[in-house]
Amino acid sequence: MADLLVKLYALPPSGPIIEKLKAGGVEIKRAIGPEKRVVSEWAQNTFSKAWASECEVALSAQPATCFLAVKNSIIIGFACYDATAKGFFGPIGVDETARASGVGKALLVRTLEAMREAGYGYAAIGWAGPAEFFKKTVGATVIEGSEPGVYKDMVKA
Ligand SMILES: CC(C)(COP(=O)(O)OP(=O)(O)OC[C@H]1O[C@@H](n2cnc3c(N)ncnc32)[C@H](O)[C@@H]1OP(=O)(O)O)[C@@H](O)C(=O)NCCC(=O)NCCS
Repeated sequence: MADLLVKLYALPPSGPIIEKLKAGGVEIKRAIGPEKRVVSEWAQNTFSKAWASECEVALSAQPATCFLAVKNSIIIGFACYDATAKGFFGPIGVDETARASGVGKALLVRTLEAMREAGYGYAAIGWAGPAEFFKKTVGATVIEGSEPGVYKDMVKA
């Protein structure tokens, strides 16, 4: 899977997207250190060991480079940056039961906004599975010849 590139100076504003979710009881918030284990265990149980590892990297930074979607104090989604490489967005995941209601888009836009605030001009989306989601929501474009990119030579479990 190829990597994608996002222009951080051309993002849609996160405010209205986040407000809409709030009305349905979903909050988008930056994770903090004490949540590290809960987040990584959730990511492992819901997705994979690799994503749990990336959550641990993101939650070891200060401030954490991980955002959560939370409903009734329960995680329903997450997104990280600077977890695989500097300037990389991802991973992102939303619980299956909470998909198709705007949670992924809110996490994506808020996290990319945080990357812009951190000083980046562009974000790379590594190993972008659902490329159409990223193209549609934030105008991401394919980085030609980027596969397997930074993931080459990864050790196997
Ligand atoms: C990809 C993912 C994060 C999307 O989360 P979501 O909460 O369902 O997405 P949203 O409801 O915010 O969708 C926003 C828009 O993108 C579209 N979209 C969502 N997933 C899509 C997909 N796989 N392909 C194409 N379009 C998609 C939606 O239709 C929606 O369009 P609209 O604004 O016109 O209604 C979620 O499906 C997921 O966790 N997938 C498994 C993990 C994964 O593959 N992560 C990415 C790897 S880096």
